[in-house]
Amino acid sequence: EYAVVTKDSWVVKRLDTGEPVEKEVHEISWTLDMAEKAGFPHFMLKEIYEQPRAIRDAIHGNRETIGRVAREIANYDRVIFVAMGTSYHAAIAGKYLFQKLAKKIPIVEEASEFRYEFEDLIDENTLLIAITQSGETADTLAAMKLAKRRGAKVLAIVNVVGSMATRIADLTIYTHAGPEIGVAATKTYTTQLTVLTMLAIETAAVLGTVPLERLESLRRALLSVPEFVEKVLELDGSLAELAEELKDRRDFFYIGRGIGVPTALEGALKLKEISYIHAEGLSAGELKHGPLALLEDGVPVVAIAPDGRLFNKMVSNIEESKARGAMIIGLSNRGELSKVADVFIQTPDVDELLSPIVYVVPLQLLAYHLSVLRGNDPDKPRNLAKSVTVE
Ligand code: AGP
Repeated sequence: EYAVVTKDSWVVKRLDTGEPVEKEVHEISWTLDMAEKAGFPHFMLKEIYEQPRAIRDAIHGNRETIGRVAREIANYDRVIFVAMGTSYHAAIAGKYLFQKLAKKIPIVEEASEFRYEFEDLIDENTLLIAITQSGETADTLAAMKLAKRRGAKVLAIVNVVGSMATRIADLTIYTHAGPEIGVAATKTYTTQLTVLTMLAIETAAVLGTVPLERLESLRRALLSVPEFVEKVLELDGSLAELAEELKDRRDFFYIGRGIGVPTALEGALKLKEISYIHAEGLSAGELKHGPLALLEDGVPVVAIAPDGRLFNKMVSNIEESKARGAMIIGLSNRGELSKVADVFIQTPDVDELLSPIVYVVPLQLLAYHLSVLRGNDPDKPRNLAKSVTVE
């Protein structure tokens, strides 16, 4: 098929006969401005700064859809998240949110694994939730097609309107982040997290798994998240200075517990992909089981330590890293972390369940500054493409 586009009209025709072909029309509300740098030196930095707006759009743009989709999710005992890369980290956060709120225990699989390992485990009692900003990731599309073939219901959480994932899925939720040009996912990640938080809250409301007052307070707190993100963006200057100090380090570790784990994984991925510094993200409990052997004088350990049940556990992990000479960069809303951290990043007082959306932002900025200081182009990291459309 080919398209003939004039100033006021368009038509799609068959290549062989020239006959016009009927096409469904999807309106895209993206403007040209949104795809320009607007005075920022890189798209990535612009996109990091757009997050408060993007998160607001994700919340308001989905007000009606979320309740309907949550009622659907509530019907399924077997919920499987599939995704790759940053979207996979959003899926891990989704798992924690669904466990905590909807009392469901979803499976989270990399789509590249799912597509070859799950064939005979899927049936009509399965709900597959595919998370993909581009909607074109080959492995994620293959996982969705497999699930459909086996009779499962497929929900896609997507940023790009009309992308292939939206055509395969039975249900689609858009993240409304606007076009993301930088290869490193930033605003598409925080909007995926926003949508997943809304879905978990509303599924819990349908199932009655959490007291209504708690759900109401989470709904209200979510509305304040864009302001919290604005607050952490103010840390940009100090993160640029920190990057100056860290630019020649060889290895970084990112640790977290519970819902802090996906943030640790994502912080490490951001650093690897644009600064080319080796980084590992892991759950803090794993440290002792091997990775601790790699800690020595001056190795940065970025610790995600929001206030909550696991705060003291994180402090112990920080102390055991410090005892091996690691340089601790601690993120917390609890000031007392400054006593054990070498560098303390004060985060706003956000509910622990919403912390992934806020805590990842300083990590994006740190990775960005390290990339630029090391002479890289953060928008176009070597060997990587924005959408991985081949296996
Ligand atoms: C993240 O910064 C990368 N761009 C990459 O890991 C990405 O998240 C992954 O390739 C999945 O892409 P998708 O969300 O478009 O499916």
